[in-house]
Amino acid sequence: MRLLPPAALGLVVLAGVTALSAGGAPDARDLAGAYSVRARPNGTVRAFDVTAAPADVTFPDGRRLHVWAYNGTVPGPTLRVRLGDTVRVRFTNHLPQPTTIHWHGVRVPNAMDGVPGVTQPAIQPGETFTYEFTPKDAGTFWFHPHLRSSEQIERGLFGVLVVEDAAPRPYSREVVWVLDDWLLGRDGEIFPQFNTRHDLMHDGRWGNVITVNGSTSERLDVAPGERVRLRLVNVANGRVFQLGLGGLDARVIAVDGLYTARPLDPGAFEIAPGNRLDLDVTIPPDAAGRRYTVVNRFRSPDTPLVSVAVAGPRVTTPRFAPPAAAVPAWADRAAVAPRLTLRLNARAGGPFGIAWTINDVAFDHDAAMGAMDHGAAEHDGMTAADRLPLGTWSRLRFVNESYRLHPMHIHGLFFKLLARNGVPVDEPFFRDTVLVHAQETVDVGTVPLDPGRWMVHCHILEHAESGMMTLVDVR
Ligand code: C2O
Ligand code: CU
Repeated sequence: MRLLPPAALGLVVLAGVTALSAGGAPDARDLAGAYSVRARPNGTVRAFDVTAAPADVTFPDGRRLHVWAYNGTVPGPTLRVRLGDTVRVRFTNHLPQPTTIHWHGVRVPNAMDGVPGVTQPAIQPGETFTYEFTPKDAGTFWFHPHLRSSEQIERGLFGVLVVEDAAPRPYSREVVWVLDDWLLGRDGEIFPQFNTRHDLMHDGRWGNVITVNGSTSERLDVAPGERVRLRLVNVANGRVFQLGLGGLDARVIAVDGLYTARPLDPGAFEIAPGNRLDLDVTIPPDAAGRRYTVVNRFRSPDTPLVSVAVAGPRVTTPRFAPPAAAVPAWADRAAVAPRLTLRLNARAGGPFGIAWTINDVAFDHDAAMGAMDHGAAEHDGMTAADRLPLGTWSRLRFVNESYRLHPMHIHGLFFKLLARNGVPVDEPFFRDTVLVHAQETVDVGTVPLDPGRWMVHCHILEHAESGMMTLVDVR
C-alpha cells in the first residue's frame, strides 16, 4: 500500500476543521467573517499563458531597458479573475536560468506555492509547468519568481493577480499601481551586480530610479466625482514606501489582499516589499482642473510617484460602503506564549560574504533544491525545522537582533499583529507581510488552515537570498 503524502493527510484534517468551524470549533471560528476557511470553486476555469523571457521594453516615459519580463511587459500582465474561478497558468521558462512562480498572498495548495526544492523542482530553461488553484480570497495579490529572486524580480519579473469579489462594488474605475525602484548603472541598464556587500549590509538593493507601473512620470486622469479603487503593490527588492496623498480623499479598504474592518487613514502605512494596499479614492465633484501629487515620503524628501489630474465633465459618484471584515481582536490571547520565536540576525560568511539568518541558521537554497533534484519525492524534500498545528491558534514572535529592516512574510496563511516590543497592537486587519524595524520584537497571531511546508522569510530579497528564510510545517 502506498503511504499517503502529508498533503493528503492534511486535507483530511482540514476537512475536520471545516466541519467543526461550521458548528463552532474554537480557533477556526475566530476567522468567521474575516476570511474564508476554504475555497468555493464556481466551476469556471480561467486559463492564462505566461512566459518569462529576456525582453527590450520601452516604458511609458520613453525609457528603454533590457529586462526579464512576463509576456514581454514590465510590470507583467495583470491576471484578473472572479472569486470562485479556478486559475490555470501554463508557465514557460525562456530565461537563461531556472525559475518558479510564487503567488504572493494567495492561499494555494502547497504544491502550487512555487518554492523550488520545497514544493516543486525548479523549472529549467525551456520547460513548462502548469499552476492551478482556486483562490479562497478576493483581493490584490501578485506573482514573482522564488528562485534567485533578488536578481529575477529586480530584472522585471512580477505581475499582479486581481481576484475580484463575487459581486464587485460599482467603482467608477479600478487602477493598479505597481511601486518599484531600479538600480541603473551609468550605461542606463540594470546594474548587473546582485547581492552586493553594500546591499547585504543595508536594507537590500535600493534603486536610483523609482517607478510606478514602470514609469517615472505616471499620471492618472480622472473626472470630477469619480470613485476609484487603487490597488497598490510594492514589488521593490528593498525599498519601503509611505504615501503622501497630496490632499486626495483616500481610505485604506484592504491590506495584503484582505478587507479591513473599517476604512483607515493611508498616511500611516509603511508599504514594505511584498505589501499591498487597496485605496478607495473619491474625487470631489468640484475638483475639475485640480491636480494631486502622490508622493513617497519614506526616508526621503517627498518623491513624486503619480500625478492625478482632474478634468472633463462631472460624473455621479457611486455611493456604497466597501466590504468590511470581522477581524478578531484576540485580546484574550495576551498571555499565550509564542509557539515559535524567530531571531533575525546576520553573520559573516556564506556565498555572499554576509549571511542573514533566522535562529542562527542561513537557509541553504542549493541543499533544498538538491534534495528534490536527486529524485526525492515532493514530500521527502527539505524538511521544516518548525511545526505549526493546523487549525489551531498560534503566536509567533520575530525578534530583530539586527539594526536593519526585515519585512517578514509567511506563505500560505494570514496573520494579525498582536504586539510591537511587547506593547499590544490591535490592527483591524490581517496581513501576510509585516515590517520589523531595527531591534524590534513583533508578535503575530495566526490560525493556519492549509497543510504543507510554508516559507517564512524576509521580503528584502537580498536578505532572503543570503539566508533569511526558513520553513514551517503546518499539520
Ligand atoms: Cu513574495 Cu516568498 O514571497
Ligand atoms: Cu531582512
